[in-house]
Amino acid sequence: MSGLAHAPARAGSTVVPVDFGHASAEAFKDGMRRLAQPVAIATVARAKERAGLTISSFCSLSVDPPRVMACISHSAGAFPLIARGAAMAINVLAQGQAGMGQRFASSSIKGETRFDVGHWDTGVCGAPVLRDALTVFDGRVRDVVDAGTHSIVTVDVVAVCGAATDGPLLYAAGGFTGLAPGAQGDE
Ligand SMILES: Cc1cc2nc3c(=O)[nH]c(=O)nc-3n(C[C@H](O)[C@H](O)[C@H](O)COP(=O)(O)O)c2cc1C
Repeated sequence: MSGLAHAPARAGSTVVPVDFGHASAEAFKDGMRRLAQPVAIATVARAKERAGLTISSFCSLSVDPPRVMACISHSAGAFPLIARGAAMAINVLAQGQAGMGQRFASSSIKGETRFDVGHWDTGVCGAPVLRDALTVFDGRVRDVVDAGTHSIVTVDVVAVCGAATDGPLLYAAGGFTGLAPGAQGDE
């Protein structure tokens, strides 16, 4: 249940406690599976250690200063690095990069081995940057806010780059896909 549902009623508070009942984890995940979401590889580096994972929970947070946010599971291998403060990049994938999305979500390919495929450069702050990503938001972790199973991680963006001419890779109904031709504005 959300923190809001448990928020204590306080005089003069603008917080309105709302309790819609407790959705099961399965119902929640089933609802989320109906969304089409962009896909990125979140990469982090601290000292000589690197890690990365596939994410779809990310979005723009602030334009000035430029900031993005991502929701990262506490069980992710990269989370301890993020929690300690690290360089971080959101490498947004293009339609032809589903294999990379699978690789960085794999339960059998872990840690540094994930970087064996693809051209990885080092970003301005030190995070791994995928050379042919659709676009990359490169920067460093600013805040890590506990939100349940995941934390909201805000990233101060210091550089934006991108190379791919393909459309964005999407994740919908449990699989990787792309925009329909008409939806790309190139009819
Ligand atoms: C399309 C897709 C989107 C994902 N989005 C997220 C996400 O937003 N946040 C997250 O913590 N894990 C997300 N995951 C799950 C992680 O990629 C996966 O659990 C990964 O194996 C974690 O890294 P680890 O194996 O090093 O712990 C996603 C997986 C896929 C396939």
